[in-house]
Amino acid sequence: MTRQGRRRRSTFAPAVATLAGAITCAMGCAAAERQQWEDTFAGDGDDAFLVDDDFACFTDRRWADVDGRRVWNVFGGARQAQAVALAVSRAPGEYPVGTVLQLFTFEAMVKRGAGFSPATNDWEYLVLDTSSGSTVITARGTTDVGNVGGTCLSCHGAATAHDSVCFTNSSCRPLPFFVDTEVVPASDERCR
Ligand code: HEC
Repeated sequence: MTRQGRRRRSTFAPAVATLAGAITCAMGCAAAERQQWEDTFAGDGDDAFLVDDDFACFTDRRWADVDGRRVWNVFGGARQAQAVALAVSRAPGEYPVGTVLQLFTFEAMVKRGAGFSPATNDWEYLVLDTSSGSTVITARGTTDVGNVGGTCLSCHGAATAHDSVCFTNSSCRPLPFFVDTEVVPASDERCR
């Protein structure tokens, strides 16, 4: 499993820091520092270990927009088509290795290689800071990464038939606030 950075003091710290950063950075402040993440997983097959600059503005052409949720497979081609088709269909199923999903700019889930993390069905959860106009990964991991609502797994893990993906079903623990997905790309600092 990927080690956590020193700046992550508690489960909720990254999201709180991101929200606080978004507010104070409007007045000018230092962005999150980039850090060296080590990939400690050595699987046999394909894998997707993403770094900061693999993430892009929500209007970038790599993203398929499925009802305001971003879907991208780093291998492209058939896997991109498979991931998008599954999201659009809202049917139960497994996303192919290399799938990256985002709803908010400040968090993402990435389908890693087979055997990466049985507890999260091989999803890696990431917390991102985009306030500088580029992406900085501030936390990443599996069972212990979270936001103000709890660990990612505590909500997403309930959607077992849908491979831990929430928007295609109603089995996830719901978000404690209303999400206006139309607003999200407009608030993405990387698109300006
Ligand atoms: C309180 C429960 C909860 C927590 C905690 C939570 N999520 Fe979610 N997440 C949801 C729900 C519900 C949706 C679907 C919202 C919608 O589409 O309207 C969602 C949507 C998403 C999506 C879009 C794809 C999908 O599954 O619908 C991603 C990516 C995502 N969350 C990542 C994360 C990450 C990363 C974390 C931890 C840092 C996290 N979430 C923590 C409940 C949660």
